Amino acid sequence: MDDVSQKPHDRLGDWLGSDMDRVNVLIRERMASEHAPRIPEVTAHLVEAGGKRLRPMLVLAAARMCGYDGPFHIHLAATVEFIHTATLLHDDVVDESAQRRGRPTANLLWDNKSSVLVGDYLFARSFQTMVEPGRMDVLDVLCNASATIAEGEVLQLTAAQDLATTEAIYLQVVRGKTAALFAAAAEVGGMIADAAPEQVKGLRDYGDALGIAFQIVDDLLDYGGVAETIGKNTGDDFRERKLTLPVIKAVALADAEEREFWDRTIAQGDQRDGDLDKAQAILARHGALDAARADALAWADRAKAALDPLPEHTLRGMLVDLADYVVARIR
Ligand code: IPE
Ligand code: IPE
Ligand code: MG
Ligand code: MG
Repeated sequence: MDDVSQKPHDRLGDWLGSDMDRVNVLIRERMASEHAPRIPEVTAHLVEAGGKRLRPMLVLAAARMCGYDGPFHIHLAATVEFIHTATLLHDDVVDESAQRRGRPTANLLWDNKSSVLVGDYLFARSFQTMVEPGRMDVLDVLCNASATIAEGEVLQLTAAQDLATTEAIYLQVVRGKTAALFAAAAEVGGMIADAAPEQVKGLRDYGDALGIAFQIVDDLLDYGGVAETIGKNTGDDFRERKLTLPVIKAVALADAEEREFWDRTIAQGDQRDGDLDKAQAILARHGALDAARADALAWADRAKAALDPLPEHTLRGMLVDLADYVVARIR
């Protein structure tokens, strides 16, 4: 039954029902290892905690919308979730994060070494599920996305602490670290269904814009969200001295005193008790969170428009709703 009170990604999950179940079975099958018990311990900890499964849903929805009825969308959906999970393990080491999916991070429960190595293991597993459909064009897209994610994370590393970071650089980081996988997920779903080139491009553009909107909101939630709801700690970006969109906007509008504050806390990393509250107050004073949310809304609109070449389909409507949801979401 189509319950309108449900969240779009839950409705999408329901519609994709048995496909999503098969993806989860394949993920569980492949994330185990008989030879190194630490692997299933860490992967189960993360995978059983859930996660929204947005990226595999994009693969499945794109493939089904374009009329695919073969078996390989399942492998591609598992592939993108493996890549995603590998990047989360690595990202939590890099960001020194303590909470993920409502649980202590693997780096906290075990150690950085385990997170890095198990991340590598999952990444390698993604190679296997990626080649199973036997499509070189699909491989090309997913390999490119993997390289682009890493580039985005490294670019962010060098942009952190730098108050001269522009919105253009932020966009480049976000396109790389987050939107690349959303774009590839939607694109390979269309490709495996042999959809027309303009439809495959529409799906890619949808994923790209959706991913950007998604990450902007993720960055908003780091200042304005509730840790219990988002399942991650808030204030991580400030502590990590990351120039996310709201901060970039506030720095551009800063008076001399605020400039001094950002210089001390972000550029020099001298953070004291109460500084996060002060940062939030400055962001509010300049309407920086609202301005960033407006940008996210514009990207969501672009995502929706990109679906124009796609066929009339229930799933298309659900992807439109998903674009609205990623901006409205609180988790
Ligand atoms: C977290 O992605 C990483 C970002 C790109 C912000 P999700 O919020 O999709 O993570 P899970 O899979 O639902 O935990
Ligand atoms: C996540 O970036 C992107 C990747 C995992 C590649 P963030 O560091 O902004 O996301 P969270 O807040 O840890 O989920
Ligand atoms: Mg992080
Ligand atoms: Mg990060």
